[in-house]
Amino acid sequence: MTADAFLRIEGLCVHFPVRKGLLQRQVASVRAVDNVTLSLRRGEAFGLVGESGCGKTTLARTVLRLVDATDGAVWFDGENITALKGAALAPYRTRVSAVFQDPFSSLNPRMKAGAIIAEVLKVHRFAGDITARVRELLALCGLSERFADLFPHQMSGGQRQRVGIARALATDPDLIVCDEAVSALDVSIQAQIVNLLEELRLRHGLTYLFIGHDLSVVRHLCDRVAVMYLGRVMETASSEELFSEPQHPYTQALIAAIPNPDPVSEEARDTALLKGEVPSPLDPPSGCVFHPRCPLAMDICARIAPELEPVRSGHAVACHAVTTQPQPETTTTGERDDR
Ligand SMILES: Nc1ncnc2c1ncn2[C@@H]1O[C@H](COP(=O)(O)OP(=O)(O)OP(=O)(O)O)[C@@H](O)[C@H]1O
Ligand code: SF4
Ligand SMILES: [Mg+2]
Repeated sequence: MTADAFLRIEGLCVHFPVRKGLLQRQVASVRAVDNVTLSLRRGEAFGLVGESGCGKTTLARTVLRLVDATDGAVWFDGENITALKGAALAPYRTRVSAVFQDPFSSLNPRMKAGAIIAEVLKVHRFAGDITARVRELLALCGLSERFADLFPHQMSGGQRQRVGIARALATDPDLIVCDEAVSALDVSIQAQIVNLLEELRLRHGLTYLFIGHDLSVVRHLCDRVAVMYLGRVMETASSEELFSEPQHPYTQALIAAIPNPDPVSEEARDTALLKGEVPSPLDPPSGCVFHPRCPLAMDICARIAPELEPVRSGHAVACHAVTTQPQPETTTTGERDDR
């Protein structure tokens, strides 16, 4: 494991079996996450971006141990958490928590905010004064104590998400997985929640795995970013470098698709860069999975999957056009290499 890795995702594969017929025989598998390797440093905000269906939530749920890995491992603070079972998982569950997109569906509508947060404290056998701790957690998230007595439907979207964050903080975690935590909110409210997350991270030394559709939000909040496409990581870099010097054609297309408030640049923006739909992870394209949509695709791209390789310190790209010279048509045995 890399020395400075706090969370290390190593060769992670999550394949969902597709079953059919009376005997429920497996006929195919959805390759939701395919050989992903990533490292998060303690205290950083790490962004995960990519189009819908590229495996972001599946990866997050595997880190949270809500989904089992098919292959590979997740290491947290030196421990392989994919190998933990039953009661052995309890300490990990106190150190890692999550904030989801839709606080309406992730908060029990029949419980008041105070009870929702208190429930987590009770499950994790909090030894102190629960009422005082609930009040403290609400205050940390910018909510007065009166919110403890409100039901989720009595709050605005932003207030509900603040309760979601207070609940995530209840166990005093080290890592918070934020899966589209601000995506459902109005833009002005998004900014407030992003600021709150940032403030909490700095104050409590939290590490974030932050999943987002909105690249501007990710750019603002995250120190480093990984771009996923069809279950694989295409590029990782510091936020600054990824947005100023994207190397992978997919990252370039995603960034070109960000709406620009300046009407002149907006007109010049080539929105046609990213053509077509994401193919099905049931039957991903051969070689580089991006090749059917890539404007730079070469012969080799349909045959050989590019490895994620460093292009400079802290910046890695999986693209033949960026990292390697075109390789020979055949292997030494004369066979095609369909890795
Ligand atoms: N339990 C499951 N069984 C079968 N397929 C699944 C399951 N969960 C997810 N998938 C499939 O795995 C792929 C990745 O889904 P996932 O939800 O991880 O993507 P995502 O990047 O989070 O998308 P979005 O941006 O829309 O949230 C999709 O094709 C999805 O249909
Ligand atoms: S490997 Fe080929 S198809 Fe894939 S992104 Fe690079 S140039 Fe495009
Ligand atoms: Mg998702």
